[in-house]
Amino acid sequence: MANTPVSADLEAVRDSRPSVGSLYSDTEPLARENAGLGSDSDDIEPGADMALVVANFYTPRSALVAQAALVLTCLYAFIKVAQQPLMLFTYHPTFALVGVLLFAQAVLVVQPTSTPADKAVGGAVHGFLMVGGAASFLIALGVIVTNKLINNGAHLYSAHARLGLLTVILLTANVVGGATQFWVPQVYGSVAKAKSMYKFHRVAGYVVLVLTAATIVAATGTTFNKNAIHISRTVLLLGFGVAGVAVGSGVRRSKFPFKFRRM
Ligand code: HEM
Repeated sequence: MANTPVSADLEAVRDSRPSVGSLYSDTEPLARENAGLGSDSDDIEPGADMALVVANFYTPRSALVAQAALVLTCLYAFIKVAQQPLMLFTYHPTFALVGVLLFAQAVLVVQPTSTPADKAVGGAVHGFLMVGGAASFLIALGVIVTNKLINNGAHLYSAHARLGLLTVILLTANVVGGATQFWVPQVYGSVAKAKSMYKFHRVAGYVVLVLTAATIVAATGTTFNKNAIHISRTVLLLGFGVAGVAVGSGVRRSKFPFKFRRM
């Protein structure tokens, strides 16, 4: 074991553990409570769950591909923005890009979680990253609206602006939904009812992730980008395309509220 790479060790631990369905199905209300109490995971060495969850940021290889594609694409867009003089507007794309990176980390960290203890740790890390991501998007939105008010600019005239507003609203609603399902399930009447909503939270999350990427791609069509920033639509489509395929390969279709037909 001493010479084995950490990721291989973690893969071995993950492989040796019971499957998701056997320990923690979406319809098993007690599992979540057990996760909080740790009873189902007492035989797992302390810290292993955090290590497994942290490993999700860079394993399997598709997660690493997603990270590389996202970081490089966001860095490219940020460098283009940073080449403009610093102004109030600068904080709009900057916070939006930070939001995208946090959002992507939040998705990767739960791809997958297997045991109740994994789910408790992964769910909490996911929740905090999503709250951070939502806060970044709301700041980005606040900045651009303020900027428009100061400069008497017309609101929501571009496809980017309209898509962006829709994305922020859906994202915020999904974060509120997920956070209450996870942290205050009583709001839904019972833990079982809260858990039965997870599948909708999950599918909405992936839809919002795609909408977020589409919003940034649409930003290349704004007058300011065309006249000054010059972020390339092709580079964004390529970067987000690669990241999308990589993130998509980690999606567990069985966890969606509908069945996928075999192609
Ligand atoms: C690299 C990233 C981004 C760039 C370069 C960018 C650029 C711009 C520009 C130039 C405008 C002013 C022109 C217009 O209203 O269409 C704008 C407005 C806007 N952006 Fe972005 N944006 C980025 C990311 C985002 C993201 C991720 C969102 C939301 C998820 C977003 C939401 C909005 C909204 C709602 C407006 C309109 C505000 C209003 O009409 O008052 N943007 N953006």
